[in-house]
Amino acid sequence: MDSIQTLRRLQQEAKQGGGADAIKRQHDRGKMTARERLETLLDEGSFQEMDALVTHHETALGMDEKKVLGDGVVTGYGTIEGRLVYVFAQDFTVMGGSLGRAHAAKITKLQDLALRTGAPIIGINDSGGARIQEGIQALAGYADIFLRNTLASGVVPQISIIMGPCAGGAVYSPALTDFVFMTQGTGNMFITGPQVIKAVTHEDVTMEELGGAMAHNQRSGVAHFAAKSEEECLAQVRQLLSYLPQNNLEDPPAVAPQDDPARADEALDTLVPQDPSAPYDVKDVIAGVVDTGSFLEIQALYAPNIVIGFARLDGMVIGVVANQPSAKAGVLDIDASDKAARFVRFCDAFNVPIVTLVDVPGFMPGVDQEHGGIIRHGAKLIYAYCEATVPKLTVILRKAYGGAYIVMSSKHIRGDFNVAWPNAEIAVMGPEGAVNIIHRKEIQSAQNPNALRQQLIDEYRETFASPYQAASHGYVDAVIEPSQTRATLINALQMLQNKRDANPRKKHGVMPV
Ligand code: HXC
Repeated sequence: MDSIQTLRRLQQEAKQGGGADAIKRQHDRGKMTARERLETLLDEGSFQEMDALVTHHETALGMDEKKVLGDGVVTGYGTIEGRLVYVFAQDFTVMGGSLGRAHAAKITKLQDLALRTGAPIIGINDSGGARIQEGIQALAGYADIFLRNTLASGVVPQISIIMGPCAGGAVYSPALTDFVFMTQGTGNMFITGPQVIKAVTHEDVTMEELGGAMAHNQRSGVAHFAAKSEEECLAQVRQLLSYLPQNNLEDPPAVAPQDDPARADEALDTLVPQDPSAPYDVKDVIAGVVDTGSFLEIQALYAPNIVIGFARLDGMVIGVVANQPSAKAGVLDIDASDKAARFVRFCDAFNVPIVTLVDVPGFMPGVDQEHGGIIRHGAKLIYAYCEATVPKLTVILRKAYGGAYIVMSSKHIRGDFNVAWPNAEIAVMGPEGAVNIIHRKEIQSAQNPNALRQQLIDEYRETFASPYQAASHGYVDAVIEPSQTRATLINALQMLQNKRDANPRKKHGVMPV
């Protein structure tokens, strides 16, 4: 009986983390405790804690008095919609959630289990970083985590949630994972904080401006989702997981179809303006094609000239990549290339078929873009699409010019099923640019240059501003009525279900990162 009471006392003690005062301070900041977060994230009652009785074994710098059961991180496993996930949540109430050897070992134990059993791992970050008193042991702990983040990449989905500080080298664990979620006002990430920046570059910046949720969702592209509250954030994580397979050997989870596979959306027939430079919202096309309400956009605030996200077609999970004509005319620039390339690679690693919607004027011109390496960044997107062996379905909605036509999952780079809408324009470049180059001398010496230019543009348009030349070469498999897109894609997705394709044997390629 005594022994059971001892156990219960220890279990009770472990649940108290850093104690009532520290928990109150956590709540006063609008933050949940580590355990509350895990309870909200997981299916009710499913959390099984591990290593609740772990403590550090340091004696230096007063650490003897700072032994707290659990060592500042709550770890274990549970379920989300009935599917196994591994979870850890750093406990800021214990030494600021700082990471020492024992804390790190609890996390790496989970990472190893996630790899062995093929289940996603989700980490909630809220930490002052490397535990200063543990010195090199803390750094060793981070290194152990980074190594396993890298080894697990492409094997099990890895998700990071930033609900407090995440600073210094500590940011590289989330950065190595697949999706980063941040809460506005409380989550922040940076390599060096405002004080160091002030000392080195004399710039004044607040923590939120420097590394808050908006900074990383809109500007740096480090984060994929922003939430106004912790509850909203955790609900977003649950939603994302509903599209992901448990590991790279499984297919993503299909659901019973809720929507008519043959549903024809007549609005699509008139949605895209005839004028090739007039904008429209490609998300209306996505909404009209995929199962109703199934589109989950990723990185919605970053590089909005390309739209990425998961959706379902007749219950089957797909990844959507779409140029967005309502932002920068849908041009491919550095950020859009990076954003889409990483998503294509995620989809390919986790057996998610890719549906690409094309309306792209080309790559972004400009000195900034050239000197920023648009050549290198654009190459990532080509590389990602070329390398991908999952089913690749492409719909050319309107413009598909130049290199951007090739990149956007064209037939030439192993597109499996490529169709075009009737007013698609597939050409080396737009009519104005083309005529100015190939007829420059004639136009210059003409009596009425403007009239001749217009006549030549019209001729060019007649020749190239249709999908039929591409269709005559078999570079698009069919020209379809826009309203038939959903039925056509569902049919093709079923046709491609047993697709097998491979790349040449190699250790790995050398992606132009
Ligand atoms: C040990 C730490 C700690 C740390 C915080 N604490 N950070 N203990 N090591 N890194 C402790 C504090 O001493 C305090 O303990 C408790 O946590 C709460 O911290 P406060 O400072 O009171 O909280 P707050 O005012 O909210 O400030 C939070 C903070 C600040 C902004 C995170 O604590 C801070 O700047 N910490 C240091 C951050 C840092 O420089 N870390 C190293 C980064 S480099 P008591 O006992 O008083 O409650 C790094 C390298 C990783 O991480 C390398 C990987 C390759």
